[in-house]
Amino acid sequence: MTASALSFRLAVLCVIAGMGMGIGMAASQNHALMPAHAHLNLLGWVSLFLFGIYYERRPALDTSRLAMIQVYLWTIGTVILTIAVGALHLGYDAFDPIAGISSIMVLAAMLLFAYFVFRPAHSVTPAPTARMTPAE
Ligand code: HEM
Repeated sequence: MTASALSFRLAVLCVIAGMGMGIGMAASQNHALMPAHAHLNLLGWVSLFLFGIYYERRPALDTSRLAMIQVYLWTIGTVILTIAVGALHLGYDAFDPIAGISSIMVLAAMLLFAYFVFRPAHSVTPAPTARMTPAE
């Protein structure tokens, strides 16, 4: 599987869980999990999907093991962070170090992505897009 396909699949799973959490909050009229919901949707759905688009446009990077590691590290960090943030907002203070560790995991995954974006290599050059010529 490519890094982009993995990103898109994991992003969809995250938003399904995030929407379920949102519906649960709305139905129960208890918004205590709002920060966890927001993190899961924005890190898990929006950011992962954006990674997928970036990787899909760069075929050499898309098939690299390092890009797969970036997607897995981001996703595992996001899931743990979501659980920890949710638990903290429910009053379980013991989750504080877990929130800290998972936030470092997500930061590390973003630094790896930054390396892909900034490194001067042909693998980060986007594939040419098909150009459409208007019919006359
Ligand atoms: C079925 C879909 C969804 C439902 C039912 C839902 C429900 C909710 C609810 C009840 C809140 C708490 C609002 C408050 O306490 O002020 C909330 C907050 C939030 N939601 Fe969702 N949500 C959904 C989807 C999404 C998606 C797809 C995203 C992001 C892409 C998202 C991002 C956010 C954010 C960022 C907040 C925090 C807003 C703030 O700080 O005031 N939600 N959502």
